[in-house]
Amino acid sequence: MCGIIGYIGNDNAADVLIEGLKRLEYRGYDSAGIAVLQHGRIEIRRSVGKLLHLEDALKKELLSGTVGIGHTRWATHGKPSEQNAHPHRSGNVVIVHNGIIENYLAHKRRLETAGYRFQSETDTEVIAHLLALHMEEGHSLEQAFRATVRELHGSYAIAGLCVSEPETLVVTKSGCPLVVGQGDKAAFLASDVTPLLAHTRHVTFLEDGDIGTLTPLGVTVTGVDGHPVHRDEVRIDWNAEAAEKGGYPHFMLKEIHEQPQAILDTLRGRYSYDSGEADLPDLAITPDQLRDARSIWIVACGTSWHAGMVGKYLLEELVHKPVQVDIGSEFRYRNPMVQEGDVFIALSQSGETADTLAAAREARRLGAYVLSIVNVVGSTLARESDGVIYTRCGPEISVASTKAFTGQVMALYLLALHVGRVRQVLSVEDGQWWLDQFMALPGHVERVIKREAEFVAMAHRFYEKKNFLYLGRGINYPIALEGALKLKEISYIHAEGYAAGEMKHGPIALIDEDMPVVVLAPRDRLYEKTVSNLMEVKARSAPVIAFVSESEQELEALADCVFRIPNTHALLSPIPFTAALQLLAYHIATLRNIDVDRPRNLAKSVTVE
Ligand code: G6P
Repeated sequence: MCGIIGYIGNDNAADVLIEGLKRLEYRGYDSAGIAVLQHGRIEIRRSVGKLLHLEDALKKELLSGTVGIGHTRWATHGKPSEQNAHPHRSGNVVIVHNGIIENYLAHKRRLETAGYRFQSETDTEVIAHLLALHMEEGHSLEQAFRATVRELHGSYAIAGLCVSEPETLVVTKSGCPLVVGQGDKAAFLASDVTPLLAHTRHVTFLEDGDIGTLTPLGVTVTGVDGHPVHRDEVRIDWNAEAAEKGGYPHFMLKEIHEQPQAILDTLRGRYSYDSGEADLPDLAITPDQLRDARSIWIVACGTSWHAGMVGKYLLEELVHKPVQVDIGSEFRYRNPMVQEGDVFIALSQSGETADTLAAAREARRLGAYVLSIVNVVGSTLARESDGVIYTRCGPEISVASTKAFTGQVMALYLLALHVGRVRQVLSVEDGQWWLDQFMALPGHVERVIKREAEFVAMAHRFYEKKNFLYLGRGINYPIALEGALKLKEISYIHAEGYAAGEMKHGPIALIDEDMPVVVLAPRDRLYEKTVSNLMEVKARSAPVIAFVSESEQELEALADCVFRIPNTHALLSPIPFTAALQLLAYHIATLRNIDVDRPRNLAKSVTVE
């Protein structure tokens, strides 16, 4: 989730771009850069780390042009480095990009054969070379840009400029946000409205497939085939802070809503439908090594550990390998029976959690292949692993993890498919069937979060309670744990997650009419058993909040609140169920007036023991 920006007008472009990038820095902050047209040349300044470093570089060498584009990066392809930082240039054109180009490898091979030299490891650089190639064919910037866009698959917001047409900026988008606006003899573009607010309150949100052409006199929007398109101008009344949160009151709610996109991005370009396989090039473990591994270990902390538990159910079911899951701080101090050649999977949003890192180092010392599933590209865990799958969720700012969790589970699905195919436990047709199910997941989550009003109503009924119990079975047992963790983290209500069948061995003693019980009861092979557990709860007068499959009719009479989750295969139900529990926790916490994004005593990343 990078941030892009562009300016064309009469003011100093570098100043406008830097001020704008400061507002976008929350979208990514591992490197930044700007390109400005100055005296008939493209001048680029880039630096790694926070924007401050770029500002320092600019102080040393001032830029004076009035047209430019800029970028703040959250790495997806290629580590954070100056070479991988945007803007990317090809001859006399330069571009910035937010998103993922799925077919970049095919383009890269073709462009290399045509003599284009690549300077970075990014997927983005192919866009610059394609644009240059089409301009060399004699097209105008706008025509060349259209031809380039037609050749791209994936998600993107792109802005470009060239030396030969200094009065024009071009932009487009597909699956990533982009907004344009007009000021006094100036035009602006950005990933969201925050940088524009200092210049104008009237903006236009571009839609997928739109091509925007910006000149100092304004913005015109056309379709990719060139026909004019009308987009309404919108007046924005948010202040800068609200705008950074996309109008949501908290980052947590914004991040919950970003999950369909985060899941899709984690899946994008990582499978081959024809062969029913996952395509995970950074895994760096051969099919033989995967086949021969005696067992699989998964280690993580906090919410990531819950994703790891989901991974255990998944891998054992789909891949038929023994999987052990452990908490980082436990694994490192026991005597784990890891053997040479075992596969060790570390899960971490930040890639910096001390206990997870220590466990991964210990596993490597014992001879395991260390794979990590990480959100932050270039983090310590990613660097120290033999192979990595990045969850492409963008920066997660709220302390309580939401989109990183569902991204991790999505990455585990891909990994399970990969191992299942390698071990030939899954056929081509099985693989294709699973891929179809994976692709439906963003839509399922979308449908859950659209029904937010139902969670608000539930929260009003229960927010004053002092204790909650969450029950789940099978692959939804970890989701009961995660639901309870979310509630306690942000609402300070005591909540426990339990395997529903284990309730009779203890927690049942606590149940009374004052203890709401959240039950996860999808229509799976454990359904009947979960219903019996629910009867036990009901017999003790507890209010029941049941999360059930869409087709469910029976529990209506038993539960006090029923929320229906889109029907999925049982193994995939954790993702939509989790989204529902996040929203329940969020609305309870806001009714209790808690600073949801910064709950007391907690840290986003725990880098000490
Ligand atoms: C902290 C955060 C949690 C997170 C855990 C593990 O406790 O508050 O939200 O799940 O660390 O972090 P990681 O970055 O390793 O996923």
